[in-house]
Amino acid sequence: MSNILSELQNNILTLTINRPEKLNALNKETISELSAALNDVVNNPEVRVVILIGAGTKAFVAGADISEFASFSVQQGKDLSRNGHQALFDLIEHFTKPIIAAVNGFALGGGLELAMSCHIRIASENAKMGLPEVSLGVIPGYGGTQRLPKLIGRGKANEMIFTAGMMKADEALQYGLVNYVVPQEELLEKAKSIAQKILPNSPVAIEKAIKAVNAGFQDGVNGFEEEIKEFGNCFGTADFKEGTSAFLEKRKANFPGK
Ligand code: COA
Repeated sequence: MSNILSELQNNILTLTINRPEKLNALNKETISELSAALNDVVNNPEVRVVILIGAGTKAFVAGADISEFASFSVQQGKDLSRNGHQALFDLIEHFTKPIIAAVNGFALGGGLELAMSCHIRIASENAKMGLPEVSLGVIPGYGGTQRLPKLIGRGKANEMIFTAGMMKADEALQYGLVNYVVPQEELLEKAKSIAQKILPNSPVAIEKAIKAVNAGFQDGVNGFEEEIKEFGNCFGTADFKEGTSAFLEKRKANFPGK
């Protein structure tokens, strides 16, 4: 798995997209390796939080690999988009463990779409985000037209998409596209510190929270109903028994993750 570097430390899995000479552009191989790396750990209780970052100091991901699709037909274009959604972007959004994007430079096109499919985004001061696809005669195809308006509002998303412009980290923070902006050398540490705050909590409850939050953004799904269902389901879990017992016994919970 040369395009993805993987490191598991203290229940936090850091996956580094590793094509720095191409600014970590997402070619077919990288997408399938990233997808495989996530599928490999989905049932591994040792992995509790995932951090995604790009190799080097210049880019998170500078987009889908333009050289791969430049000569595609209409059908190949549709397949590229659909397969990408299924293999990676939807997988991340609905992943049962929190995924934090550490945006360490350019996050353009598929790179911003990758960050937007993650549950939490933080950025380094040099990060620049944008959806420049219309400058190439195409539109965002990995969820950009759907996730960006939901994150920053339709008007600003339209402006970003139509102008193909880049948003700097401080503006991204102002629009809520990222939660924090920190100096680049502190970025991974900041991502890990957020992960550390997640770790003591119930993995089962977090999984159900991801489901309920996502439900509110899905067409035809009633998010409140999903919340009611998952809230109720929590009462049947060992984590709930442990969490409530620990509180009443005035001790720290030690969640079994079941
Ligand atoms: N797909 C394929 N290759 C890419 C790429 C992409 N999305 N983004 C960067 N690269 C490659 C460049 O072709 C170059 O390769 P080379 O050295 O073999 O020529 C290498 O990465 C370095 O990029 P370069 O353009 O020389 O760096 P820069 O600092 O001058 O510019 C960017 C940085 C991000 C502004 C510029 O690379 C860029 O505009 N990339 C495309 C962004 C984009 O449109 N993404 C959406 C795709 S749908």
